[in-house]
Amino acid sequence: MISPNTIQEILNRIDIIDVVGGFVKLKRRGANYLGLCPFHNEKSPSFTVSPAKEIYKCFGCGRSGNTISFIMEHEKYSYVDALKWLANKYGIEIEETFASDEQREQQQAAGSLFIINSFAQQFFTKILFESEEGQDIGLSYLKERGFRDDVIVKFQLGYSPEQRDAFTKEALAKQFNRDLLLKTGLIANRNDQLVDNYRGRIIFPVHNHSGKILGFGARILKSNDKAPKYINTPENEIYVKSKILYGSWFARQAIDKADECLLVEGYTDVISLHQAGIENVVASGGTSLTQDQLRIVKKYTNNLTIIYDGDAAGIKAALRGLDMALEESLNVKLVLIPDKEDPDSYVNKLGANSFKEFIQKNKKDFVLFQLEVALTDAAGDSTKKAEVVNQVAETISKINKTEDFTRQQDYIRQCSEILKIDEGGLHALVNKFIRNRISTQEKALPFEEAKLLEENAGKAAATDYNDTTFNLLFKDELQEREFARILLEHGNKKWNTDQLIANYIFSEIMDESLFDNPEIIKLVTIYKEALLRQDTQKTDKSFFIYHPDTSVSALAVSLLNFPYDESDHWKREFSQSTGYQKKLFEKSYEDFMRTITQEKEDVLMSYSKMDEDRTPAEIESAINYFKLRKVKRMLLENQHDMEKPHTAQEFETLHRTHEHLKNMERDIVQKAGTVIIK
Ligand code: CTP
Ligand code: MN
Repeated sequence: MISPNTIQEILNRIDIIDVVGGFVKLKRRGANYLGLCPFHNEKSPSFTVSPAKEIYKCFGCGRSGNTISFIMEHEKYSYVDALKWLANKYGIEIEETFASDEQREQQQAAGSLFIINSFAQQFFTKILFESEEGQDIGLSYLKERGFRDDVIVKFQLGYSPEQRDAFTKEALAKQFNRDLLLKTGLIANRNDQLVDNYRGRIIFPVHNHSGKILGFGARILKSNDKAPKYINTPENEIYVKSKILYGSWFARQAIDKADECLLVEGYTDVISLHQAGIENVVASGGTSLTQDQLRIVKKYTNNLTIIYDGDAAGIKAALRGLDMALEESLNVKLVLIPDKEDPDSYVNKLGANSFKEFIQKNKKDFVLFQLEVALTDAAGDSTKKAEVVNQVAETISKINKTEDFTRQQDYIRQCSEILKIDEGGLHALVNKFIRNRISTQEKALPFEEAKLLEENAGKAAATDYNDTTFNLLFKDELQEREFARILLEHGNKKWNTDQLIANYIFSEIMDESLFDNPEIIKLVTIYKEALLRQDTQKTDKSFFIYHPDTSVSALAVSLLNFPYDESDHWKREFSQSTGYQKKLFEKSYEDFMRTITQEKEDVLMSYSKMDEDRTPAEIESAINYFKLRKVKRMLLENQHDMEKPHTAQEFETLHRTHEHLKNMERDIVQKAGTVIIK
């Protein structure tokens, strides 16, 4: 782990314009800088960097973040790797701390495994190209399959000779540790003798996202052998199969550009597609996709296209990952390759262009495809059709994040058309699945949380797909975000002579259970703790923008969006103690006009926005919203109690509570009416 001191030093030195400017040509425009977005293809620049806020945002593709997340995203680095990159750039020496001995040992072991693997790769590649056996057997096999030299070199392929201990000898001569050598799976212990594990095989190194070698796949050459076709590295500190996507290192930039990730089964498929110029491709390694692998894809893009063999087994394998992918909010498309072919053989048969065309023409939506397959199976059998309806409703119910609401609605519409059933009926069924899942989860939850979920389920049940419910669901999210934004943007400022705005807000809303979004709860909790300790550095927005927990920093960046930038700038220039008018007289007319033309109407717009400072109204509005929410939840609880059996006296109490809460609700709405509406 990098020490907090070092991290602080790096943060102090970061200059976002300098760092981002190293990758993107930036031009100054007003308070911000503008350039062509490196994350998607565009002709006119919409990638904006704010040096004042130390954040960037692309108004084309929506990506945003801080300097560290820029490096993480652009270079596909982890948080720690991004810090190391920055430290290197600024010549800062990294001080490392280790949480425990165990952790240190593990890190050292991992480091050594990488070193051994890199050594092994060089060994196998040398044998392939330089030894007689390598050339005659390995290289000629690869050539026969049509692999070009440049891709063989790029993917660092190799060959392991038939000799029983060729690699072992070299490795022991290098004095690598025995236990570690065994861990890599390159060497095996046979009757107390160390021997090579891969013999007479083509070696495919498996790289991680930053190009280091995690392990190997070793393919046999003789087809009639009883030995397994591939021998893969056993699980160890660095080779964790469920977290590996073969090819991600070579595909990362192409995936970014295409905003799509193609998924195939095996090593040879990835390499052949690369050779054909299709580089946004990774492989799962012949097993069905895991949640971790889906999350890796999600880091690069939301669009996953699975290319599998068209035989029954291929279809089944492809369909298995589906529900999980939906839960991860991925758009999944499926392309089936004709029977008896795989992407490797098929691209070689068709050639690059026709293959690309084939992919474009045959892309099917995953959910709809699954429905078609099931319907063909059910053909004419009404009991089976009922099962299909249930199955598709359950699948759709998994698309259940707020941001996916529209997608879910689209699927309900399309599927009900295909199934020739009533759209409302399918809608109700989907909601039933959502409710069932919630009530199963609910059993495991404490009362307050269960209540929240129940309320949400109630909303889902009430959905009759008009926009009101959508707004209701969505408005909560927006209000929570608005609340968090106000905290970050204004919390540190004075509310009155006695207290800060943040103090005032928390004295009015003390109950975090009023928030639904776990990330906002996290941010608010962190803020509150820092406020209690009067740690003003940690209530500053830059603390959140650079928070090591990326979910916190991503949220902070997205909250502090750009529209407020101009107005901030304007405030500094013209407002505060001096005031706009005074400033106007201080500046010469020409000066003033120059500022105006430079920053154009948008600045003037923000001036008029800032003229009547809306901050207090925004704060009151956010507070009222949460008060209303609290009262509504209490009303709901009270109503539940009223439904239970009770004595006459209890009834009276419950009834009076109801009246009281209703009054409060009315008061808040009235009060809110005067400040909420612009
Ligand atoms: N695989 C494996 N172990 C096996 C068989 C397969 O790990 N015994 C994985 C490999 O990642 C392989 C993928 O599943 O790349 C697909 O298997 P297959 O289609 O049999 O192999 P290909 O790599 O396509 O090999 P080839 O084209 O040479 O037949
Ligand atoms: Mn193949």
